[in-house]
Amino acid sequence: MGLNVPEYPGPGRKRAFLLLTAVAAAVIGILVFGTARDYVQGGGYVPDEAKCLVCHSNPDLAKNTPQGKISLYVNEVVASTSAHRFIDCTTCHTTKPHEVATPLTKLSLAQKCGSCHQYQYKLHLESIHGQQLAQGNPDVATCVDCHSRKGDSHGVIRVLEHDAPTYKKNIAETCARCHDNDELMKDYGIVEKVYESYMRSFHGKALQLSGYELGSLNKATCTNCHGVHDIKSAGDPQAPVAGADNLVKTCEQCHPGAGVEFAKGFLGHREASRDNVPQAHYTEIIFRTLMISVVAFGIFLMLIAIVRFSINRWRE
Ligand code: HEC
Ligand code: HEC
Ligand code: HEC
Ligand code: HEC
Ligand code: HEC
Ligand code: HEC
Ligand code: HEC
Repeated sequence: MGLNVPEYPGPGRKRAFLLLTAVAAAVIGILVFGTARDYVQGGGYVPDEAKCLVCHSNPDLAKNTPQGKISLYVNEVVASTSAHRFIDCTTCHTTKPHEVATPLTKLSLAQKCGSCHQYQYKLHLESIHGQQLAQGNPDVATCVDCHSRKGDSHGVIRVLEHDAPTYKKNIAETCARCHDNDELMKDYGIVEKVYESYMRSFHGKALQLSGYELGSLNKATCTNCHGVHDIKSAGDPQAPVAGADNLVKTCEQCHPGAGVEFAKGFLGHREASRDNVPQAHYTEIIFRTLMISVVAFGIFLMLIAIVRFSINRWRE
């Protein structure tokens, strides 16, 4: 009774191995050279099954619309580093993009983003920015004003990348693109220098000095007080910054048990004045008067000393 050991298939195996190696080499070769070729051609790589970039990688491609000339150029290098770099053109644009006439406005853009990001879109529509967008105001923020470097639909950067406009350290600068633009803001009665006053505040200075680790970025930036996709007008009673009660809750997210007095002492973006937080205004005046008195007294003492010294020298 013996085991039925099959004969060792020497030469057959060897041939299979050689064949496999050849196939693997060919696949790797195609992959390497194929990708390299795409890089050389476009300077980047984005999925483009329908070869849209044959035309749309041309920087001069544009279209005339009632709002003026709109560029139809898609920058492949920018697109290849975006959050959507693995999504094919036709996933967002259908296979027949030229059959759908889009107005290519800030609102139609938000609608397209919103077809996938429904939650953020819904909040955004109810925000002060989104409401104005729906009324055709082109000054307010649409998705890509906050999510890409140059307002480019194809350049959305993931939130947690250090150079993302939405990374906590950069948010104030992102809002400042518009809110520190006097020309843009003068039409809206927004008189406060919101960016400047924020950067003067403890929170602003501390965030500016901190590094990029999330742990050190625990101070408040614009969105911690105003919200992100649901930003409301400061005059809206539902805004997280409207009225002492809402404001306290906003501070208490990070200052547990802060209480009304803590929030009341907060100047918002305004300078302290007789009408706005008078305590702080008068404290400031008292401190300034005290400072001046102390310095003046010091100078007075010094003068006396000098006079005294001179008189003594003269007498000797
Ligand atoms: C043969 C060149 C060519 C190819 C290929 C091409 N496009 Fe276009 N595309 C154009 C031109 C030209 C326009 C401007 C048409 C006009 O003036 O209305 C345009 C317009 C567009 C617009 C703006 C549509 C609008 O609402 O006016 C989008 C979006 C677009 N293309 C996406 C794509 C996508 C996605 C693909 C691949 C599936 C693609 N294109 C392939 C030439 C091309
Ligand atoms: C993640 C979704 C997404 C992908 C992927 C995408 N696009 Fe777009 N694209 C948009 C959005 C959003 C707009 C703005 C549409 C509007 O304003 O109505 C847009 C606009 C355009 C326009 C009009 C000009 C402009 O920049 O507003 C063209 C042309 C275009 N895309 C071509 C392409 C091509 C070519 C690709 C593939 C390389 C591509 N898109 C991939 C979302 C996408
Ligand atoms: C006023 C600026 C602003 C606008 C406008 C805006 N976003 Fe955002 N978005 C942000 C910030 C800031 C974050 C990071 C939130 C955080 O850190 O919690 C974010 C986060 C996100 C995220 C990541 C998931 C999440 O909710 O944190 C997605 C997805 C997103 N936004 C999509 C959109 C879309 C789609 C639109 C347009 C309909 C839009 N955003 C409009 C500022 C904005
Ligand atoms: C076809 C659906 C689709 C459309 C349209 C689309 N996105 Fe996305 N988006 C995605 C997917 C899927 C991811 C996740 C990619 C990943 O995790 O690698 C993503 C990721 C993101 C992120 C990064 C989230 C994070 O956690 O960092 C932001 C921000 C974002 N999208 C904003 C937008 C904006 C703004 C638009 C319009 C210009 C848009 N998206 C259009 C599908 C879409
Ligand atoms: C593309 C330009 C733009 C960007 C970017 C932008 N905003 Fe705005 N925002 C506006 C305009 C314009 C208004 C005025 C709308 C109005 O009052 O009708 C506005 C209104 C507001 C208001 C309401 C002001 C009031 O009337 O009380 C707040 C709060 C606000 N933005 C906060 C932010 C924050 C926080 C960011 C950054 C995360 C930001 N915005 C980014 C353009 C922008
Ligand atoms: C996102 C979190 C966050 C929010 C929201 C926030 N703060 Fe802060 N704040 C901090 C952190 C963190 C510090 C630094 C604490 C420390 O070093 O003791 C700080 C420091 C301060 C300081 C200076 C140092 C001190 O403890 O006296 C003041 C004043 C202050 N916050 C006021 C406010 C007010 C008023 C609000 C509400 C309108 C508010 N903060 C909302 C995170 C926040
Ligand atoms: C610690 C909380 C806090 C932070 C951080 C903060 N704000 Fe405010 N913001 C407020 C409060 C409270 C008000 C309402 C009272 C006021 O106008 O000072 C306000 C008002 C506003 C207004 C309306 C001003 C007007 O004239 O009607 C805008 C716009 C605004 N903030 C934008 C910003 C921007 C942009 C940033 C970041 C650069 C920012 N805020 C950071 C609390 C904050």
